[in-house]
This record gives sequence, structure tokens and C-alpha cells, in this order.
Amino acid sequence: MQWTPPLDPQQYPKLEPLLARQGRTLDWLNTDDGDPYGARNVARWSIHQVTKLVPFHYRAAVAQRPELNTWIRGLVTDAQAEQKRRGAPVASINRGPSLLLLGPTGVGKTYEAYGAIRELAVTGIVARWTVVAAADLYAQLRPRHGVDSETEFQKYSKAGILLVDDLGAGGKVSEFTEDINFRLVNYRYDHELPTLITSNVLPKELSARLGDRVASRLTEMCQRVVITGQDRRRGVAA
Ligand SMILES: Nc1ncnc2c1ncn2[C@@H]1O[C@H](COP(=O)(O)OP(=O)(O)OP(=O)(O)O)[C@@H](O)[C@H]1O
Ligand SMILES: [Mg+2]
Repeated sequence: MQWTPPLDPQQYPKLEPLLARQGRTLDWLNTDDGDPYGARNVARWSIHQVTKLVPFHYRAAVAQRPELNTWIRGLVTDAQAEQKRRGAPVASINRGPSLLLLGPTGVGKTYEAYGAIRELAVTGIVARWTVVAAADLYAQLRPRHGVDSETEFQKYSKAGILLVDDLGAGGKVSEFTEDINFRLVNYRYDHELPTLITSNVLPKELSARLGDRVASRLTEMCQRVVITGQDRRRGVAA
């Protein structure tokens, strides 16, 4: 684990509310106890890593839905138990349940997802996130000269912990996108790899939109959280 110096709170917005949820403070985070594998250094390192991953718009996101906090707590507890069992120097997230965030446009699904990524970072547990919007995933996996689509696909299917934003959004479902959705969800399901998925597909339309086999696996592997409300973007514009 790379030693990470104290973090300037100006450059890492809204860490305090995230730390407070763990019963911790900025002082705790920035006190160097000289242990590179200790929770403080892992947290500083993780915050630094996720800051590169979280888009600027969501840089200060703090998840509001209690189901996300509970999901994170569960992952952390399991990782710590596994660390103890194996006598590993750090606790890291390798396996666990998934979460499906559903809701119409603009209610805050992506915000909640990035809030969860930031929250996990301050726990002092190693979580190797990969983040992708479903539409970008399809674009990246289209067969192209000089690109090995299978290697690209495995970056996502085998990711330690994965955020798939906006699954099922956009244009018509094609055989190609259906195949990617199935292979991705099936792999994550088979290996119990924790996955955070957002979608604006209505709960009752999941099967129709994503196919029965994808919807069935998602039902078993994911806790489902439905966010309702107005489009917050329009609220800002008004
Ligand atoms: N709890 C919150 N506090 C402050 N701002 C929020 C909160 N939740 C969402 N927002 C803001 O509201 C807007 C819409 O949120 P977001 O992008 O997460 O919506 P979404 O549900 O992912 O929409 P879409 O389905 O179009 O992708 C964004 O500007 C986001 O930063
Ligand atoms: Mg979104």
C-alpha cells in the first residue's frame, strides 16, 4: 500500500460528512500513524484514487439513501471478516451482494452511486472500482480493428467492484447490447462480484427491457432501491 500524505480538504470536498458516518474526523484521517496498511493510510490512498474516478460534477456527492450506507457497511464487515480469516495485511472487497438503483431521469441515481464510491473510500477498506456508463461500454466493445473486445469486456466483467451507470437507457435494444448485458450480469452473478447498477427502466419493465434472464439474475443478486421524485435538474433550471 503506497504511503499517501495528509489530504488537503480544499482539494477533496465534503469528506467530513462521509468520515462522520464512520465515527471519524479529518484529524483522524490526516494523522500519520506510520502504518502504510493501517485504516488511515488506506483511506487517504483510496480517497486519492476515487477522486480520479468520480466525474467533476459528482465530486462532492454524499449518498442520502440509507440502503446505500447499509450496503457499504455489509461489504466492509465481510471484507474485515475475510481479512481476519486469511490474516491479510489489508481488508479488501472481493465478493458480495449488489445493488440496483432504479428511478426516473434526474432523481439522483448517479449522484447516489458516486456518493457510495466516495463513502467506501473513507472506510479504510481497499475497493478497486471500475466505472462505466452502459452506453460507453457498448461503444467500447463494438468490434473494431486493432481492439481486442474480449480483453476490454473482461476489464468490466472481472472488476473488483463495478458501477454500471444507466443500464437499459438509450435507444433500441439490439442483439449486441442484449448479449453484452447478459454476459456481464451473468459473470458478476456467477462469481458474486459486487456491482452497483443504476437504471431508469421502470421496475415492472426490467424483464421486457433487459430480457428475462438478466432481470432474473438481477433480482437475486441485487438489493433493489427505487428512488422517486422530480427531475432535480429541472428544479435547478426553474
Ligand atoms: N442528494 C442530492 N443533493 C444535491 N444534489 C443532488 C442530489 N441528488 C442529485 N443531485 C443533483 O441532481 C442532478 C440529477 O442527479 P443525477 O445525475 O444523479 O440523476 P440521475 O437519476 O442519474 O438521472 P439520469 O437518469 O438522467 O441519469 C445532478 O445535478 C445531481 O448533482
Ligand atoms: Mg444518471
